[in-house]
Formats: sequence, structure tokens, C-alpha cells
Amino acid sequence: MKDFVIAPSILAANIACLGSEAERVLAAGADWLHIDVMDNHYVPNLSFGPMLVRALRAHGVRAPIDVHLMARPVDRLIRESAAAGAELISFHPEASEHVHRSVQLILDQGCRAGLVLNPATPPEVLEYVLDKLDLVLVMSVNPGFGGQSFLMRMLDKLRTVRRMLDQAGSKARLQVDGGVKEDNIGQAAAAGADVFVVGTALFGAPGSDYRAAIAGLRRVLASAPVI
Ligand code: DX5
Ligand code: ZN
Repeated sequence: MKDFVIAPSILAANIACLGSEAERVLAAGADWLHIDVMDNHYVPNLSFGPMLVRALRAHGVRAPIDVHLMARPVDRLIRESAAAGAELISFHPEASEHVHRSVQLILDQGCRAGLVLNPATPPEVLEYVLDKLDLVLVMSVNPGFGGQSFLMRMLDKLRTVRRMLDQAGSKARLQVDGGVKEDNIGQAAAAGADVFVVGTALFGAPGSDYRAAIAGLRRVLASAPVI
């Protein structure tokens, strides 16, 4: 079976207890932590920055920290996120003047590099940097907020990007982000995704039972008709 990655978006966690929330969700079986950096310019919301990555590392988090930059410009935040302990850093091409250079900057920091496709952004933007990418993030909501509904139209884009990656012989991860829940994660996996960002469906689980929520997601993934 494919090694699927569950990456909780801590934007949906109890922000007053982020350290213990991170511990609990990783102990419950999550693989990565997804950190949504929002600057209230590129997206109409303000969240947290690289200092949170540093704090989580100091708190003892050893799992991969996946920083999703919804900010503009990105280059300084790339350096700061890497220095703070990020393992993966992804950004939106619309937020960089020189996308190829920003991807290379992530790689030069020793991190894995990702590019993020907004719902209206075509996969063609990947073409001339695909060989450098470790991750492609397909947004299944418009960036800026958790708790939105999954845009089913993005399943087509996942299939297209999966074909692009396979044809290029790329080992990059294909991540889907936004509105992922038990009732759509199987379709996202069948469309080619292998990393699943889950915010509300996990941190809003009944009784905050993260273990049961992750087990439910993995049960659906285990029976997904994966290509
Ligand atoms: C939205 C963020 C997502 C979001 C996921 O801009 O990039 O990571 O927090 O949360 P849910 O799963 O609640 O949509
Ligand atoms: Zn995100």
C-alpha cells in the first residue's frame, strides 16, 4: 500500500495549547505537522510565522514540519523557516517575483521544496521547476482559512499533476490541502494525492479523539482505488 502521509494543519488546533496539541496529534498517528503561515496581505488572514516552528522544535517536536507560506514576499520567510527547523517549505508562485530562484533558495537551505497551486492556478506553472520539486501542493480550497468545503473540481487537477509527475519520473509528493475529510480523502487518493493536510476534520473530531479521527482517515485510504 502507498505510504500515505497525514499532515494536521495546526491552524485548526487549540491555539492556546499548540505544544500539547502537536504532541497529541503526532502521538495519535499523524506523520507531519502542517504550519500555515499567513501574512494578511497575500491571504486575508494573519496566523503565525517561523517563530512557531522554532517553538515547536524547542518543545521537542521531531516529526517533519511542513511550512506552507501564504505570504508575499517569500524569500526572507524561506530563510527564517529553514533556520527555525522546517523540513519542507512550500510557497505560492504568485507570491514570488522569481519562482525558480525561490525554489532553489529552499533547496540551498537544505529543505525540501514545494510549490502550491491555488484553485485557479494551472499545473503548467510547474513545468520548468518540476525537476527541482520535492512536493506539489494542490489547494482544494481558496487559501486563508480552515473549515472550508473541498472543491471537488480539484480532483481533476490532482489527476493532471499526478500524470505530470509520473511522466517526468518525479518522486515529488502530491499534497492536497483544504476541506479534506473522511468523505473525500479516498477520492483525493484515487486521484493521485499521497499527502493529506487535515485541519478541522481532525482537530474538530468528536471528543477531540485524534486517534479515532486519524484511524478513520487511514481506513478510507486503505480501501481507496489507488492508481
Ligand atoms: C488554508 C490552509 C489549510 C487549512 C486546512 O489556507 O492552507 O491548510 O488550514 O484546514 P481544513 O482541513 O480545516 O480545511
Ligand atoms: Zn495549508
